[in-house]
Amino acid sequence: MRYYKNFINGKWVDAKTDKTFESRNPANWDEVIGIFPDSSKEDLELAVESAKRGFEIWSKIPAPKRGEILRKAGEILLKRKREIAQLMSKEIGKTITEAEGDVQEAIDTAFYSSGEGRRLFSYITPSELPNKFALTFRRPIGIVGVITAWNFPIAVPSWKIFPALLAGNSIIFKPAPDGSAVGSIFAEVLQEAGLPDGVFNIVFGYEVGKFIVEHPEIKVIAFTGGTETGKIIYQIASKFLKKVSLELGGKNPQIVMPSANLDLAVDGVLWGAFGTSGQRCTSTSRLILHEKIYNDFMEKLRKRLPELILGDPLDPKTTMGPIINPQSLEKIKKYVEIGMNEGANLTYGGNQLKDGYYSKGWWFEPTIFENVNTNMKIFQDEIFGPVLSVIKVKSFEEAIEVANNSRYGLSSSIYTNDINEAMKAIELLQAGITYVNAPTIGAESHLPFGGVKETGNGYREGGWTVFDIFTEWKTVYIDFSGRLQKAQIDTWRE
Ligand code: UN1
Repeated sequence: MRYYKNFINGKWVDAKTDKTFESRNPANWDEVIGIFPDSSKEDLELAVESAKRGFEIWSKIPAPKRGEILRKAGEILLKRKREIAQLMSKEIGKTITEAEGDVQEAIDTAFYSSGEGRRLFSYITPSELPNKFALTFRRPIGIVGVITAWNFPIAVPSWKIFPALLAGNSIIFKPAPDGSAVGSIFAEVLQEAGLPDGVFNIVFGYEVGKFIVEHPEIKVIAFTGGTETGKIIYQIASKFLKKVSLELGGKNPQIVMPSANLDLAVDGVLWGAFGTSGQRCTSTSRLILHEKIYNDFMEKLRKRLPELILGDPLDPKTTMGPIINPQSLEKIKKYVEIGMNEGANLTYGGNQLKDGYYSKGWWFEPTIFENVNTNMKIFQDEIFGPVLSVIKVKSFEEAIEVANNSRYGLSSSIYTNDINEAMKAIELLQAGITYVNAPTIGAESHLPFGGVKETGNGYREGGWTVFDIFTEWKTVYIDFSGRLQKAQIDTWRE
């Protein structure tokens, strides 16, 4: 157990409040991983002062040089990959293999962002007038507030922090309380990589998230979390005309068509629905099966479900870890009850595990509901746990209609060996991401990531698109004609 302090202006500093919170191991709730300050408004003020100074220095450093620091950060993460993954397994219960993948995603993002330092391309376009240049370039914005969820405590913050830094902004980071120890690693890594003091700051806590959103000097908010919170953030931030990037909920469908390789599609469900114990925004939570293969598919799936091993996240044989905290477990239990009351058929799992090893933490079995229909809450709501709703359809068209019957639109998947079906699905599925013959999880860091409908507000993290969040365009006209030229009025002449 460790006592943590906020990280402000390159130093670990005591908070101005005595209020604290704990982060605990969800597989062994008695184990406290860290005690953190529940930061106040005054603490945030210190971070803002620091980030203002940081921005003055950092925004003037050429982007390729900023990129070099991010490359070093990536190298440090690579060197520390195993150790960070172990801390992550303990703090949030992610299996060790997946935790290493989480760190790897941040390493990939650091290297990708670093390379962008020597690109950060913009446009030069002809002017309508002679002897005049028209060009554009990306400018840093200022202080960015980063507020993230616990489930990818390194990868998801890295999608925001590294590109925002590359673009020349300074940062105030509030990690998810349940993943705060892992979140603190960013401070260590960036400092060791040579980032100037003040450019990156951490304030731990709950309510301080609201103070960040309300602070007039924090110009950009990058948030990953639930849709309801995202809407509140958007409303508050709009009063200050802040730029807000929201990565919100998902209710991701996997469609399986008659031509599909069923064994491959079963692999997809086992990983997509039950990997990370269903606690990804990209997790598969709706399985849409064509009636022709329904029985065969479900039989194959039932045979393979016992392969899922719930246990010590640090044991490489484990495939499913615990549920993050008692509140999340209660939510999952409530939804299982709702599903039963709604008339769905609970055909697998459905129970909390409490005996023996499981008695110390928060565990829930992989759970399957069949006979689900689109009006049910278990079909519509994001449960964020290992609960899969299965629905039978009669045609490709119905499969698409059912898949699109959702307020969310993050990820989607279709298993088919019919090329026309695959192409049509790519066009018709209302989602930011569509996988063909692969599960709904597993996005790569150098491609746009985000969703349509209530999954977000139109921005994409990842890849080159993330720079639209963290930069502003400057347009420049350079007139070298030596005379006054009036756009829209003067016409071209020799
Ligand atoms: C999330 O759950 O918030 O595509 C992110 C994936 C991961 C990222 C998930 N690369 O499943």
